[in-house]
Amino acid sequence: MTHQTIVVLDFGSQFTQLIARRLRELSVYSEILPFNTPMAEIKARKPVGIVLSGGPRSVSEDSAPRCETAVFDAGLPVLGICYGMQLMTDALGGVVAPAPHREFGLATIKIEKGAPMLSSIGSELRVWASHGDFVKSAPSGFTVTATSTNAPVAAMADEERRYYALLFHPEVAHTDHGTQILRNFAFDICGCTGDWTMASFVQETVGKIEAQVGDGRVVCGLSGGVDSTVAALLIHKAIGDRLTCIFVDNGVMRLDEAAQIRQRFERLQLPLVFVDATQLFMDRLRGVTDPEKKRKIIGAAFIEVFEAEAKRLAQTQGGFDFLAQGTLYPDVIESVSVIGPSHVIKSHHNVGGLPEGMRFKLVEPLRQLFKDEVRAVGKEMGLDDEFVWRQPFPGPGLAVRILGEVTAARLDLVRKADAIVAEEVKKAGWYRRVWQSFAVLLPVQSVGVMGDARTYEYTVAIRAVESRDGMTADWARLPHDLLGSISSRIVNEVKGINRVVYDISSKPPSTIEWE
Ligand code: XMP
Repeated sequence: MTHQTIVVLDFGSQFTQLIARRLRELSVYSEILPFNTPMAEIKARKPVGIVLSGGPRSVSEDSAPRCETAVFDAGLPVLGICYGMQLMTDALGGVVAPAPHREFGLATIKIEKGAPMLSSIGSELRVWASHGDFVKSAPSGFTVTATSTNAPVAAMADEERRYYALLFHPEVAHTDHGTQILRNFAFDICGCTGDWTMASFVQETVGKIEAQVGDGRVVCGLSGGVDSTVAALLIHKAIGDRLTCIFVDNGVMRLDEAAQIRQRFERLQLPLVFVDATQLFMDRLRGVTDPEKKRKIIGAAFIEVFEAEAKRLAQTQGGFDFLAQGTLYPDVIESVSVIGPSHVIKSHHNVGGLPEGMRFKLVEPLRQLFKDEVRAVGKEMGLDDEFVWRQPFPGPGLAVRILGEVTAARLDLVRKADAIVAEEVKKAGWYRRVWQSFAVLLPVQSVGVMGDARTYEYTVAIRAVESRDGMTADWARLPHDLLGSISSRIVNEVKGINRVVYDISSKPPSTIEWE
């Protein structure tokens, strides 16, 4: 089954992915393609509409990114946003010029009465704009549908040809009624019915996996996170016990986490091979203090254990033909080379590189999905809220949250402190408001006093950050009362820690994890 699709052509805006996410939240399937995708490829998706995204360039530049002119001749509704509006203007014979007053941030626009696509949202709107150029005169056939103090054309439309353009970004949360505007475009103008639901995704994906795998067998390396768990659920639904999941306990997971993974898989009746490799990882990490060495050791040990286990299983149960991976849509989107591929560079992978000697075919059931959609599929398939909304956790685990050597005693300290942070942050209602919140054990001892006795013990740093994707982050302004209760509980309950500090650095220049 194909879904009604809106294609978003990406001209390099940092908000391009948001356009697709907002449309999908409206149950409209949306795909992002590079700006210069040939029309034949666009048409192969049978789109019902096209969105031209924003972008950092100016159409006046010789090397400005342009789509094929055929995009405007396909008879499909086209919505240009910011740079997309300027490109549309330029391509259709209007005039774009540098704005006398550049607009970055909030602006107010006035909407003309009866403006198509901007109906039912009032006559004035606060919008998020970010542009240096503006439309000086709209191409013929267009009417101006909104104005702002600094821009004579804040929105325009050619209803006959179904071209629409906005100077501002409807996809960002700061724009009032932005989602309604996208809904108007998708439903009223493109005729979408909202046929993209997670239930339909599950049904179709299960069918696709059945077709791909045939009678084959699949092995899935679990990280303990949401993505690999949801991938396993989908594959299991498709091929049952011909799926084997391998979880390698590396000994640097959070408090009780390994046991919880076992229980969850039992409850979901997913076939799990649990390998307790704690001792091996601890042996390899002994005496190692360099952060990159720790990461490499953990990555290599994971592959070694996983490979050995897969081989052992192959001997007893038969070989595997496929390897399951929890690859998500943002990893797949072909990066646009307008500003370079930087916004999709991923420096981390959950389940290290593929073992050289293991030449599996890949099953990647989440390739179409954004993270929010993976969560929705997880819920649809019976995962509990608490797990589905878990904050991200790095592959090398607590090893990169213990500065200096990783020892059993230090793991014990950071685990207890981390569990207290999670409990208090949840209790205060901040857990889902921040990207991550955790404890880091510092190799710093300082003097304290407890009761009448002098102490000389370790320091814990609390790290809590807000972020959209982990690529940049700001430290979270957690309430002082919350920080106070975290601090007093850690010092009182975790013997061996007598000082707690709060990390107030953002990324960049700092990173989220300390190592
Ligand atoms: P940094 O510390 O680079 O982290 O600012 C950015 C985000 O990535 C997570 N992270 C990892 N995730 N394997 C992962 O799957 C890793 O090796 C890894 N290292 C860091 C980190 O928790 C943060 O969310």
